[in-house]
Parts: sequence; structure tokens; C-alpha cells
Amino acid sequence: TDNAIRQATAIAHPNIALIKYWGKAENTTANEPAVSSLSITLDELATRTTLTFDTAYKTDRLTLNGKPDTAKLPRISSALSVMRQLAGITTPCHIDTSNNFPTGAGLASSASGFAALVVAANQALDLNLSLQQQSKLARAMSGSAARSLFGGFAKIYLPHAQLEPAPFGANYAEPVAPADHWPLEVCVGVVSEEEKAIGSTAGMENSRNTSPYYSAWIAGNDADVINAEALVKARDFDKLAELSEFSCLKMHALALASRPALLYWSGATMDAMRAIQRWRAEGTPVFFTVDAGPQIKAICAPGYGELVAQRLSELAGIKRVIRCKLGQGARLLD
Ligand code: PMV
Repeated sequence: TDNAIRQATAIAHPNIALIKYWGKAENTTANEPAVSSLSITLDELATRTTLTFDTAYKTDRLTLNGKPDTAKLPRISSALSVMRQLAGITTPCHIDTSNNFPTGAGLASSASGFAALVVAANQALDLNLSLQQQSKLARAMSGSAARSLFGGFAKIYLPHAQLEPAPFGANYAEPVAPADHWPLEVCVGVVSEEEKAIGSTAGMENSRNTSPYYSAWIAGNDADVINAEALVKARDFDKLAELSEFSCLKMHALALASRPALLYWSGATMDAMRAIQRWRAEGTPVFFTVDAGPQIKAICAPGYGELVAQRLSELAGIKRVIRCKLGQGARLLD
């Protein structure tokens, strides 16, 4: 059936880490992380990707948000080639992908993008990979993408495994609890829609090579994930708020102490962080997290999304607020 057209469409949502991943294992050939992490998968933001493999095509082609894109094609092509190799084919592919949110601006478009790519390719190429294998492949493409295979709360817990060679490597994400276990709400305060200047791969390498705090960072994350998992299971909002903000600020302290410094915040980011801490001190159950970009993510206890979205949108420097709940893992669409 090598002349057949093979097509599949998948959807995946970004995830936001409450216990952060920042740093790759040394000597990994499969993009393995150096730290454990724990995340929540969102519902409202989504990447939708259709893959069409056709022997009549001459080359791979990428359409991103309706426009041809050559800049992102090489990374996506080589990710697909790993899966083509597993299927024993070399058929070119047209990739049609769209995000309903800004791409490459610290909103985890690589997580949802690569999770959708793996799920669609697994189907189109009849690979029959397990969820764990799909999670490993997604991780090899973008570390956080491994977690978007799962809905609700997910973790990558490192001490499970030693490093293994590409294409799969050893480490994978696994579910911690489904979305309905604890329907937290998330308000994303968009500070800038511009693409970030320093991508996470270069940033992580810089931190590993130059930050004096790197070994302390590595030493603490397994315990942070174990503790966060217990707090999620117990639905202990106050303690999870404190631990998540600690992990976020610890990651940014590491990044800030890299050379050259990685300063991902803008003034509006910091104003929002202070406002969120004030609201929590006044009794509103909300905490913040910030990734490799200026956007602020406010995590709210169930039922508080509307109030927090309203307050966030009143802050100067917040361009718009996207409200999310917790969502499902990556999946096929008809
Ligand atoms: O998946 P990557 O390589 O883009 O790295 C993600 C890094 C953070 O978003 C900052 C933290 C995380 O765990 O998602």
C-alpha cells in the first residue's frame, strides 16, 4: 500500500507546568530532561493538525495558521522522519496545523504542536504505538510535549529510568489525576503576542553551562514533584499555590543567574505576580506561574476563574485574558 494516501487529524492542548522542567540531561540523544515536572493540561487553547502523506508529493510542506511556513518546517520534518522511519517509509507529508493562540510566545505551542503531530502520525502511519511510546516520542521532539498526551494533571517523574537512546529515550509522562478530579481554572494574561527571543533549548543549555544555581535546581525537583502530586490528590490549594510559585520563581532565579541572563518577564508580568499574591493574601484562591515568556498564568480554585479574569484584565499591561479549564489529552479527530 505504498502508493496510498494516508491522512489523520489530531488535536492537542498546551500544558502549563506547576513544577517546572528546565534543563536537559547530559549526553542524551533523545532530548531527555534533567528534572522531573508536573503540569496541568488546558482545554480552551488548542493545536489542530492534519497530516497527509502522499507519494505524489515531492517534499514536505507546512501550513501554519493558513499560511505556508518554511522557518518551522525543518524541525517538524525531522520529527516526522523519525516516525516515517518507524513505519519504514519515506513518503513526503503535507502538514496543516493551526493554533487558536499566539505561537512561540511562552504559551506552550510546542507542547500542543508536537503532541498533536505524534498522535496524528501514529494513526496515519499505522504505527500502533502505546501512549507511553507516543509520550516518549513527543518528549524527544519537545520536552513538555510528553505531558500534553494526557489530560488533567500529568507528570514526568525521572527516577523511573536511566537514559536510553533515540528515537524513544527512557522518560515519559504519565497521568496524575483526570481533569474532573479537581476542576481548577486558568486565566492566561497575555502581555505580548510576539515570539520569544530565546527559545527554551538554547535557554536551558545556557543555564546548565553558566548558572551557579543549576546543581541546586536539579537536586530539588524530584521532591517537588512528589509533594505536588500529593497536594493535587488531596486538593490542597493553599499548599499547592505556595509550592508552585516556589518552583516557578526557582526556575526564573536559575534563568536570571545565567550568562547572558534570561529575563523572560516584562514589567506587566511582575505587576501581575504581585497583584495575584495580594489577591491570595486577601482570600481569593489564586496563584501564578510564568514560563519562558512574559505571559502570566493565574491558576484559580474551581469557581474563581471569572473573578480573577475580571481583575487581571483591569491591570495595565494585560492585553487580553484567555480563560481555560482543565482539558483532555491529545486525541484523534474524524
Ligand atoms: O518543552 P520545552 O523544551 O519548550 O520546555 C518547556 C519549558 C517550560 O515551559 C518553561 C517549563 C515546562 O515545564 O513546561
